[in-house]
Amino acid sequence: MGAVLIIDDMEDLRFSLAKVVKKEGHTAFTAASGSEAIELINASIIDVIYLDIGLPDTNGIDLIGRIRKINTDADIIMLTGINEAKTAIDSLRAGAIDYIVKPFELLEFKTTLRRIMQSKLMEKQALISQQDLSPDNLIGTCEKMKPVKEAIKTASEVDAAVLITGETGTGKELVARAIHNGCKQKSGVFVKVDCGTLSENLIESELFGYDKGAFTDARSDKKGLVEMANGGTLFLDEIGNLPISLQPKLLRLIEESTFRKVGGLKDITVDVRIIAATNANIEEEINKGQFREDLYYRLNVIPISLPPLRERGEDILLLATYFLHLFKKELRKPIQGFSSAATETMLKHDWSGNIRELRNLIEREVIFCRNEWLGLDSLQHHISHVSLNSQQELVPLKEMEKRYIQKVLKYTGNNKSMAARILGISRTTLRDKLGEIE
Ligand SMILES: Nc1ncnc2c1ncn2[C@@H]1O[C@H](COP(=O)(O)OP(=O)(O)OP(=O)(O)O)[C@@H](O)[C@H]1O
Ligand SMILES: [Mg+2]
Repeated sequence: MGAVLIIDDMEDLRFSLAKVVKKEGHTAFTAASGSEAIELINASIIDVIYLDIGLPDTNGIDLIGRIRKINTDADIIMLTGINEAKTAIDSLRAGAIDYIVKPFELLEFKTTLRRIMQSKLMEKQALISQQDLSPDNLIGTCEKMKPVKEAIKTASEVDAAVLITGETGTGKELVARAIHNGCKQKSGVFVKVDCGTLSENLIESELFGYDKGAFTDARSDKKGLVEMANGGTLFLDEIGNLPISLQPKLLRLIEESTFRKVGGLKDITVDVRIIAATNANIEEEINKGQFREDLYYRLNVIPISLPPLRERGEDILLLATYFLHLFKKELRKPIQGFSSAATETMLKHDWSGNIRELRNLIEREVIFCRNEWLGLDSLQHHISHVSLNSQQELVPLKEMEKRYIQKVLKYTGNNKSMAARILGISRTTLRDKLGEIE
């Protein structure tokens, strides 16, 4: 996990803190003096530093400055004596993030360590680009995500077709990419095809390509997406919209790994992994005769059904914290976390837009946040079941909303369409709300 450096001249303390660090699963380094510490920091990647204020060869505060020149990322926590409160504050100014007053219980030490490591982990995850996602760092630990993670692992190991279902914004594409990235033996690319947006004619030539002469204006051959995905993954998004006329061609691709280009005379063999996704009810489409049952079974070898966000309990907060870290870093805002009201509201909200809704909301809120704690005021207004004891808060909430809207309008130079987009409401709703304000 992480690497922790303990700098203190008391050998007993170094020893017992290092023991806790190791027990928590991290690597422990120790140093008895400033010079020893600098040597270690030069030589290793350190995530967290516990630093004693009074060292034999230097004082902790000066040392912070020297550490920062070498390592700008590590979180520094001061170990201070009971009479050093003033120095503790100076050290915060110098760049430490927290302090513990000696003598302290090992439990207190362990708690701060856990909290810091948790937030480091979130930051790291925030830095992992979506392209690099693997099943292990998909965010979510709730019960309902366990079978999902299992299925992603299985899918990465075997070459069978995968069908991912779930409401809009639940992460279907992300899961498809995670499967692709988890596939060690594949070297090819991830090719996404949106079956919902291309016209019937276009989708056939886009998918399978065409041979010269297939159309009057086809002057040369064209490679299709299937061929481009050779050795990799073909992700068929909104598979429910794949025209019925094309379904036999896809079925053949899955069963025999071969296809023909539009106007082509010979079979082409490819090695592609097929992942399909849909938020429609395919069984219904089958009953209506719009989707072939045999294709459905061929696609559904490894089914993955993503739970809606509202059913993911604490994961909501985990994801929220992840997005908060992501955007506060990007937008350089000194936000500490969510207010307790925001946390409560997030757990109650119905999240019809799922993770995408959560992500957009937090991005928007971070942009406009002027406080240390993110309040998610716009969400509080939308929530439908307001409990009785929070009804008194409704008045200031209206006031907050008013200020929020005015802020957004100012930010957009009074451009109402853009403001409505940022606020996540329609222009009509915005007009109504403006009417209320005036
Ligand atoms: N477990 C997760 N961890 C972090 N971010 C996630 C996770 N799941 C989804 N997201 C983010 O949520 C957003 C929506 O995800 P995605 O596009 O994969 O959803 P979808 O199910 O394909 O939606 P749609 O049905 O609307 O196409 C993306 O920004 C994605 O990065
Ligand atoms: Mg999608």
